[in-house]
Amino acid sequence: MDPRSQVLLRNIELFKGNVVLAGLPADALLGELPEAQGWSWHAGEHTLLNQRFDQRCTFSTTLSSVDYSAGILFLPKSRELTEYLLQELAAKVASGVIFLVGEKRAGVERAAKQMAAFGRISKVDSARHCQLWRCQVTDKPVIPELNALSKPFTVEAAGHQLQIHTVPGVFSHGRLDLGTRLLLECLDDLPHGHYLDFGCGAGVVGSFLLKCYPQFELSMLDVDAFAIHSTELTLAANGLKATSVVGDGIHAAPKQLAGIISNPPFHQGVHTQYETTETMLREAALHLQPGGELRIVANSFLKYPPLIEQHLGSCTVLAERDGFKVYRAVRT
Ligand SMILES: C[S@@+](CC[C@H](N)C(=O)[O-])C[C@H]1O[C@@H](n2cnc3c(N)ncnc32)[C@H](O)[C@@H]1O
Repeated sequence: MDPRSQVLLRNIELFKGNVVLAGLPADALLGELPEAQGWSWHAGEHTLLNQRFDQRCTFSTTLSSVDYSAGILFLPKSRELTEYLLQELAAKVASGVIFLVGEKRAGVERAAKQMAAFGRISKVDSARHCQLWRCQVTDKPVIPELNALSKPFTVEAAGHQLQIHTVPGVFSHGRLDLGTRLLLECLDDLPHGHYLDFGCGAGVVGSFLLKCYPQFELSMLDVDAFAIHSTELTLAANGLKATSVVGDGIHAAPKQLAGIISNPPFHQGVHTQYETTETMLREAALHLQPGGELRIVANSFLKYPPLIEQHLGSCTVLAERDGFKVYRAVRT
């Protein structure tokens, strides 16, 4: 069981009623708290939890308005997302009791200070390298408006201009990533067809692709509800149309693609995670039509070319700058 869940279970007497567990890991915790509900924005964890606990977890960017007896936030990575989620809980949990649990190295003490903006805080427990904090809300905030928290920015490349919307928690919040910028410079001479922006984040890559090739069909896939929300804002702001796909990994992607374009993930929370991208590289051929292309950008130190060559075909470097490389391979 996740150490944060273990800390909650050490204090189980505090969580007897219909508490809401925001950002909970996909472990056995819901089984120990029979009246609790889960609230997840990670498609993979959401699916696992609902399979195991019969639809007791919702997938959303906002908290549904139920009279919860307490709200518990599992600390996310981003400070801005923490701020938004604490506000949601402080504004909507009827009892005014909210908890925060997180690893010390993930910055739980700093996040507890953010929570202090809503009322009196106290540390409940410290164990398993984690801390559990409680807040009695006395200064109820207004319900936050997610779209108003977007940090928009403009991208100019190849004579096109795009407005990008990034809500809290989404990759490269408020600024264009250097790797993504390099990938945008390497999208020439693509054959016509259906493309996938894998791990679309705020939708920069896919939206730029549609600007360059308005006749392309495009699917934009991400595991994170906040990323999909941002992508939809970005598409609307630029008058573009694509299919957004919520899913965990390449399995959720369509088949017979003309291309997969991606700045794929390699970080998750405070832990490094390569599995999603390695699986995508191993299985890309199953989703590409013959002659279909893979173009990805990655940190130069990541050893992706052997994997690409083993599962797809000869891998060439299209560009290299700022510690990133853009790779291209074609399904034979
Ligand atoms: C490096 S970011 C790139 C975002 C965007 N394409 C860009 O270039 O700005 C990687 C993205 O992959 C998403 N991601 C992580 N794990 C995933 C998974 N298992 N399935 C689909 N997307 C995932 C993350 O949510 C994140 O938005």
